[in-house]
Amino acid sequence: MTWNAYYRGDGVVRKGTRLPQPPPWRTFPRRSAAQVFEPPEGLIDAVNAALVLRRPLLITGGPGTGKSTVIEQVAEELELGPVLRWHVTSRSTLSDALYRYDALGRIHAHRLQQEKARAGGGEAGEDDIAAFLHLGQLGTALLPSPQPRALLIDEIDKADLDLPGDLLDVLERGEYRIEELLREGQDAAQVRMWDSEEKHPVERGHVQCTEFPFIVMTSNGEQELPAPFLRRCVRFSMPTPTSSLVREVVRRHLELDVPATGPMAELVDDFVRRVAAGESVAVDQLLGTLHLLNGDGGRDLDGAERNRLVGLLMKDLSSA
Ligand SMILES: Nc1ncnc2c1ncn2[C@@H]1O[C@H](COP(=O)(O)OP(=O)(O)OP(=O)(O)O)[C@@H](O)[C@H]1O
Ligand SMILES: [Mg+2]
Repeated sequence: MTWNAYYRGDGVVRKGTRLPQPPPWRTFPRRSAAQVFEPPEGLIDAVNAALVLRRPLLITGGPGTGKSTVIEQVAEELELGPVLRWHVTSRSTLSDALYRYDALGRIHAHRLQQEKARAGGGEAGEDDIAAFLHLGQLGTALLPSPQPRALLIDEIDKADLDLPGDLLDVLERGEYRIEELLREGQDAAQVRMWDSEEKHPVERGHVQCTEFPFIVMTSNGEQELPAPFLRRCVRFSMPTPTSSLVREVVRRHLELDVPATGPMAELVDDFVRRVAAGESVAVDQLLGTLHLLNGDGGRDLDGAERNRLVGLLMKDLSSA
């Protein structure tokens, strides 16, 4: 492969370097994966069961098996709107996912208003609490709507131990209260939604969903989830990818038909064999490798160079 046009490690400035076109999945703004996702066997049943039963779908499986991508295709096919994404970490709290109240910002804004009024001799403006409330991903997903909204709760297994239990309660009832609005007796407030400039009316500080959102939760299995939580979900484990699934994924992402034999087929078959043997390698590693090997220069590599590149990109994920 000729990397000569890019980094060479000689410290010489190469003005106006132009990189080749990025792989289709690394263009920005990000493209939806709805058109390129190929559902593995059993997933369609699991999604439909969750949709019909109005239950969250809990998807488990190894890295890169497509867990976080499923919802993009469902949301697009059923026109559920933009996917609300909640990426869970050990610091995530249920209250942040419902709504945030910026009390300090409000005090600051109020003080500024008063100072301005004093300087100008006029009246201080209205102190509107709603301007300092911001719904989170879960809070937005539970707003009343004619269609269910799509919510991804990604990597729920990274959560603090209490989070699944707390979440269970909100999901059972499909409602929550904004105590700050209740306390201040605000009967009607316009509150900003997650990831949007749009506002939604909230009456008497109470939000109640009218359509239970379509929720996908993903887990890499780092933490056991409690049985009462599991009981209320439809659960699906991403299966080990078959050769035909991987070929279809490659076709959709790269518009490339992997022949039955030859170097590309060997790469795909080796990937399927490694995953089946329990190694941790992900399909996007394979896609990246195929992209490079089929790009400019990649096709001209000799055997040793090719093996070096494959070794670099197809490393097991359990080691750095
Ligand atoms: N069945 C599939 N069809 C099409 N693309 C796939 C499929 N499975 C995985 N991919 C691609 O692999 C990449 C990784 O997928 P994704 O991020 O959804 O995996 P994940 O299971 O959430 O991984 P992680 O556990 O690391 O978060 C994405 O670019 C996705 O498009
Ligand atoms: Mg993921």
